[in-house]
Amino acid sequence: MKALVIKERQAHEKRVAATPETTKKFAALGIQVVVESGAGANATISDDAYRKAGAEIVDSLAQVTDADLLLAVQRPSRGDGADPVQCLKNGGSLVGMLAPTADPDRVKTYADNGVTAFSLEFLPRITRAQSMDVLSSQSNLAGYKAVLDAASVYDRVMPMMMTAAGTVAPAKVFVLGAGVAGLQAIATARRLGAIVSATDVRPVAKEQVESLGAKFVMVESTEVENAETEGGYAREMSAEYQEKQQELVRATLEKSDIAICTALIPGRPAPTLIKAETVRRMRPGAVIVDLAVEQGGNCELSVLGEVADVGGVKIVGHANVPSRLAADASALYAKNILSFVTPLIDPESKVLKIDWEDEIITATALTRDGRIVHPSLSGESA
Ligand code: NAI
Repeated sequence: MKALVIKERQAHEKRVAATPETTKKFAALGIQVVVESGAGANATISDDAYRKAGAEIVDSLAQVTDADLLLAVQRPSRGDGADPVQCLKNGGSLVGMLAPTADPDRVKTYADNGVTAFSLEFLPRITRAQSMDVLSSQSNLAGYKAVLDAASVYDRVMPMMMTAAGTVAPAKVFVLGAGVAGLQAIATARRLGAIVSATDVRPVAKEQVESLGAKFVMVESTEVENAETEGGYAREMSAEYQEKQQELVRATLEKSDIAICTALIPGRPAPTLIKAETVRRMRPGAVIVDLAVEQGGNCELSVLGEVADVGGVKIVGHANVPSRLAADASALYAKNILSFVTPLIDPESKVLKIDWEDEIITATALTRDGRIVHPSLSGESA
């Protein structure tokens, strides 16, 4: 068995899908890891470190035509050279965060090449899949980094400081969306000494927010009873609710210094929580970090890849925030991948043996035996 780890080619992507640590663990499973030269460079992992862990390094993808597994962070692009998908044997498996709905034609090429493609964003949030949960491992880091990004452009300090020259007030941080990223943002802002409040549409978030020492604020409405899906995600709320929520956010942000936006709805654009009018009412020097910017943003004025200044309010819209912590993000992602791949390998024969009855497999598989099989990919479900 051979697992190929490729260099990610997308803009802003510095992560890599395997580390020297997981390379050794793959070897114990009977899998030889082959790494495209330079794959780990942006995550501070040299070719040599992979080599010492037992990996083979290849200079060009054209050298590999018989991989059983292709391990990637994002959907592998065709790039200027060989298409990474063609490095796989017929029937080989591609594992990554493949964002299939963003490029349905690409999914067709997996099927056409006989590739079994698994997209890990679709993992069910069940206990057994926790160690594979790429969304959690990466969102957690993004929530942490968002607070540091806010602190780095904020002209004041986060904690209260009592000095001989006077007392500095602590920053007031408002976190919008209290899922994985939001809860880590709350914990990080609290560790820096800020006074933190947070909101969500799922009432269960209240206890989690309060257990971290933050205040929970929320629109009072019977609608929130149905705000959570069976999978634990938020639903899109009614126009009436959204209006009330924008009002609550406006009133809270008028008194806040920093907003950390993390609110998302799977498969939908991010909810608009901070209107342009609200930004204009914030204090000069206030900061908004919009982690939802790639899904359209929680703030109307955030711009992907930019730090905008709107009347003295800084709006931070960095792309791919987990990748800004590439070393740790890669280490956690690589372990998620290892946890996903391990049960795919038959311990006796050490070859791929996929259990098509397993809900983890059926939830994540996009293609199989030349067909598109994922139910979310319209018209072509099995
Ligand atoms: P997400 O990234 O889809 O959304 C982030 C947050 O935004 C969520 O808390 C969501 O409720 C909130 N949100 C959506 N619309 C909003 C609005 N209009 N206003 C305010 N907040 C809004 O969700 P994430 O972070 O991936 O987690 C979703 C849930 O899954 C959470 O309950 C989390 O605890 C749970 N979870 C369970 C796991 C497991 O059991 N294995 C693993 C990870 C998460």
